[in-house]
Amino acid sequence: MHVTSSLLLASLLLLLLPSTEMKRPGKGRGLRGARHKLTHDRVRSAARHTRSGPSRLVASDCSELTESGDFFVDCQDRHLTSIPTSQTWSKQPKHLLLARNQIKVLRDGAFFGFESLTSLDLQQNQISLVEEGAFQGLTRLTTLLLQHNHLGTLSEEALIPMPNLRYLRLYDNPWNCLCPMDSLVRTLQVPSNRNLGNHARCAEPIRLKGIKLKQIDPILLCKERDPTSNRTDPTDPVKPIPIRIRPDATTLCHTYLFPQIQVDCRKRGLTEVPTGISEDVVHIDLSHNSIRHLKARNFQTARSLRTLNISHNNMEHIDTASLFGLLHLRELDLSDNSLHFIQYGVLEDLYFLSQLKLGGNPWVCDYSIHYMVYWLRLHPGVRHSGLLCHSPPEHTGKSVAKYVHSYNGECPKDRQQSRTDPDQSNPELWNTPMEVQGELEEEELEPSHLRVPQKYQIIRLS
Ligand SMILES: *[C@@H]1O[C@H](CO)[C@@H](O)[C@H](O)[C@H]1NC(C)=O
Ligand SMILES: *[C@@H]1O[C@H](CO)[C@@H](O)[C@H](O)[C@H]1NC(C)=O
Repeated sequence: MHVTSSLLLASLLLLLLPSTEMKRPGKGRGLRGARHKLTHDRVRSAARHTRSGPSRLVASDCSELTESGDFFVDCQDRHLTSIPTSQTWSKQPKHLLLARNQIKVLRDGAFFGFESLTSLDLQQNQISLVEEGAFQGLTRLTTLLLQHNHLGTLSEEALIPMPNLRYLRLYDNPWNCLCPMDSLVRTLQVPSNRNLGNHARCAEPIRLKGIKLKQIDPILLCKERDPTSNRTDPTDPVKPIPIRIRPDATTLCHTYLFPQIQVDCRKRGLTEVPTGISEDVVHIDLSHNSIRHLKARNFQTARSLRTLNISHNNMEHIDTASLFGLLHLRELDLSDNSLHFIQYGVLEDLYFLSQLKLGGNPWVCDYSIHYMVYWLRLHPGVRHSGLLCHSPPEHTGKSVAKYVHSYNGECPKDRQQSRTDPDQSNPELWNTPMEVQGELEEEELEPSHLRVPQKYQIIRLS
């Protein structure tokens, strides 16, 4: 009796050993709890298989966060090869973030124990197989993200356990549009399922390549190849028609929906701002591309944008109206571009901007740069960095604000003032609120080219 119990204790300790390496309390408790929910043997064995191996260990790397009252488990970028065990978290997550891992297969019952999920992000894995019972139990799930995976086929049966599914992303998977996809394609095409499977396209067979699942005629899926036709001329493959269209952010970039909608378009070789930035995107990163020019209405649809990162591009010009409508923008990163100045009016809609990065641009300290400095003085709440003169040589390395100040000191319009070195003329007053206000009120100090558009501006707003 005694021996048995100490043996039991020893084996228990052995079982618990791996969990001592884990920081999260309650780790490893979940196995039995999750399993009692399994209904039939097939599911049971598959689920056990899924939960074996290293996933239990790595699961402790995931982090928990609460945003707007919702509980998230964030397991992104954790080198996971399978779904971490449930019930290792302090409570049931509503959102499970598994993007950018190495999951290849979703086994039956993979999400048992995650019944509270309303969203599940599996994008950017290597999923090539989803078993029919993989999503069993996810009755509350409304959002399922499977874009950027290796799926060639998916049975509609896999979606049946999720009666509340409203958003399903399937694009950037190599869909093989053959008969097994028939029921899925028909489901996606039901008019009320308008947010299921948008943008997903067939990769195979050749005759259907590039056609959207939403638009394909389901009859074509099950059509046998016509044996009498001789159309396999290798010199004449059916090529996608090379239409030159503006790149679309939805398919080209990585979109993360939770906790806030974020679009990652870094290093996509973009030469212009992509279309399809949806109205609810909060953060967009366009850094490390080759965008030369921001054009009017580039961000017209992006009304909720709070951060915009366009650093490390080749921007030479920003059209006046290109940032119009970005009323909620907080952070704007324009650093490491080829900007010489910011044109009058560009920043006018940015009422809530709090951070502006300008470094690494060849700012030219002449007339055209004044707008930037006046705008910054009018918006003292904006933290900014990197506004240094690059040319002409006599101003290189000088702060642009100092240049403008010395300009105004040296060349007062309609005013007699000693032409002493500006550095000598009462430096204590520089950039004090009084001095700033004085300059703003005295319109004659502004270069005349700045005044004309200001009138235009007033007309636009009234
Ligand atoms: C298929 O092509 C071959 C030669 O290219 C031709 O002889 C044959 O008649 C073709 N068959 C049909 C059904 O068109
Ligand atoms: C913008 O992107 C660059 C490069 O990816 C990064 O270093 C920088 O911190 C980002 N800026 C902001 C404001 O997040």
